[in-house]
Amino acid sequence: MDLDGSEQDPEMKEYSSVYVGREEDIKKSERMTAVVHDREVVIFYHKGEYHAMDIRCYHSGGPLHLGDIEDFDGRPCIVCPWHKYKITLATGEGLYQSINPRDPSAKPKWCSKGVKQRIHTVTVDNGNIYVTLSNEPFKCDSDFYATGDFKVIRSSF
Ligand code: FES
Repeated sequence: MDLDGSEQDPEMKEYSSVYVGREEDIKKSERMTAVVHDREVVIFYHKGEYHAMDIRCYHSGGPLHLGDIEDFDGRPCIVCPWHKYKITLATGEGLYQSINPRDPSAKPKWCSKGVKQRIHTVTVDNGNIYVTLSNEPFKCDSDFYATGDFKVIRSSF
């Protein structure tokens, strides 16, 4: 269900909220997938918080809805099932570990590659969950698999 009327500016319509499901359902399954204005997203319910992001991993298009959630450096991340990239649920940052080769005693440190996976906004109203697509004007790596020739809607991966 689109909350906005059909008379809306078509360019703005892409950023109107779309109903994706019921709160009681995602609280049981802890994740769901949806198509929001022709863009496939995954919504996670993790430790009382909702997070939505592009469903296909920024690295090579892996199916993030099939990944496990783990904490790295105290930050909950989805771990892509294809090559184990770690993506923070809250910000879409790619995390990696680095070590200083000149200092063998140094412990590996968690570092960020910056925002790689586009994060969308989840709102809950009266038990209904809505997703609003991000219109942040930066080029996000996950856009590659969410738009254009590489977009796959309702794929089986
Ligand atoms: Fe996700 Fe490679 S496709 S880690």
